[in-house]
Amino acid sequence: MRNSWEFYSTERIVFGNGSIKQLDTILQRLKAKNVLLVTDPGISKAGIADRVLTLLRESNYHVVVYDQVVPEPPVQSAFDCYEFAKSQMDTDAIIGLGGGSSIDMAKMVALLVAHGGHPLEYAGENKVPGPIAPLIAIPTTAGTGSEVTSVAVLTDVENNLKVGVSDNYLRPAVALLDPELTVGLPAYVTACSGIDALSHAVEAYTAKPSAYIQAEGPILFQGSIPISDTLALQAIELIAKNLTLAVQQGTNLEARSNMLLGSLLAGMAFSNAGTASAHALAYPIGGIVKSPHGEVTGLLLPYVMDYNLAVETEKMVKIAEAFGVDVRSMSQKEAGKAAVAAVLQLLVDIGLPTHLSEIGIEEKDIAEIAEKALQIHRLVRNNPRVPTQKGYEELLRKAL
Ligand SMILES: NC(=O)c1ccc[n+]([C@@H]2O[C@H](COP(=O)([O-])OP(=O)(O)OC[C@H]3O[C@@H](n4cnc5c(N)ncnc54)[C@H](O)[C@@H]3O)[C@@H](O)[C@H]2O)c1
Ligand SMILES: [Fe+2]
Repeated sequence: MRNSWEFYSTERIVFGNGSIKQLDTILQRLKAKNVLLVTDPGISKAGIADRVLTLLRESNYHVVVYDQVVPEPPVQSAFDCYEFAKSQMDTDAIIGLGGGSSIDMAKMVALLVAHGGHPLEYAGENKVPGPIAPLIAIPTTAGTGSEVTSVAVLTDVENNLKVGVSDNYLRPAVALLDPELTVGLPAYVTACSGIDALSHAVEAYTAKPSAYIQAEGPILFQGSIPISDTLALQAIELIAKNLTLAVQQGTNLEARSNMLLGSLLAGMAFSNAGTASAHALAYPIGGIVKSPHGEVTGLLLPYVMDYNLAVETEKMVKIAEAFGVDVRSMSQKEAGKAAVAAVLQLLVDIGLPTHLSEIGIEEKDIAEIAEKALQIHRLVRNNPRVPTQKGYEELLRKAL
């Protein structure tokens, strides 16, 4: 039995409409002069990169821009971005501006600026030798929580695999969250990234209690702990009440702000408690089809909740309540089922698929998906109900 737990987060979190204007004072505190801005073409096209660049130039920073991040970024692109920055200047701070893809790229570059080498050398857990270069993460999607997490996800294009680098040193120095930057996010990306945040919150909340996680020594994903429980439940409520509004009424700033707060709290929770089966199963599926990460984790979430209902009932009741279900006349099991139904309905309301066949998964893929997911021990051991080959196959068939 594990008898202690710990909680890590980004040291400084700045949140609010218009807070992007604080960038100069944030950089001053980091004593930065030469700043690398890492972003992607969609952010440039939306005019967000220009807004940030104007602020930086007004304050006379020497800025180098890398705006070629692609969604789910390939490993090699992180190395290329680092080489490009190195050829331009001695970087003393990095800004990751965008969704999870841009922020994860910025994390990898901040790691390489501080320690050199190649991204693959750091793949896995606790392989980062020390603090990374000062990093300011500015999210423009409400989803991954990457602005506060210990994780960067890249894609090994040749082997069709996701490569994760996880280390508490990877957390950005500052998370700067300005809801106004998320107002122009297209409906489909809002839906995919928002449901990913819900998956983070639900999986962190219902993770096996940290005391019962079967692992020796320091681990990053510790199972549920009191602080992550509080953050995750609040995140679930915020997302349940605001995701449909944010998708259907993109300019609703209050819904956008609540979603950004929800994804932040979910990121703080899951980067300590961990995620579980929805994420474990999403990795091999991501190797077969090209759907965005959130579309896959979101689709799997209600089926995983249903699978876990036999073990984790009380928290499922709380999830139902967070979705506004009146549970007073229900048994605990009925309320848990109502939580599952509420998540399925949310998928429908935001226009995302509810069956794996809709994204191109077939019966013949099931055994292999289950087999590969079971190998991701850091996620599988977090699941409240012990996953088995047979159990995962049944779950996937229900989702098909
Ligand atoms: N580091 C973590 O903790 C963590 C957690 C979960 C997922 N991820 C990773 O994050 C990535 C997904 O990130 P994401 O869902 O945030 O999407 P993303 O960063 O891939 O962006 C998706 C698209 O939306 C566009 N976009 C983003 N913000 C916009 C805005 N405000 N206006 C207009 N267009 C905008 C981008 O240009 C891009 O084309 C995946 O690689 C996933 O594996 C990381
Ligand atoms: Fe995720």
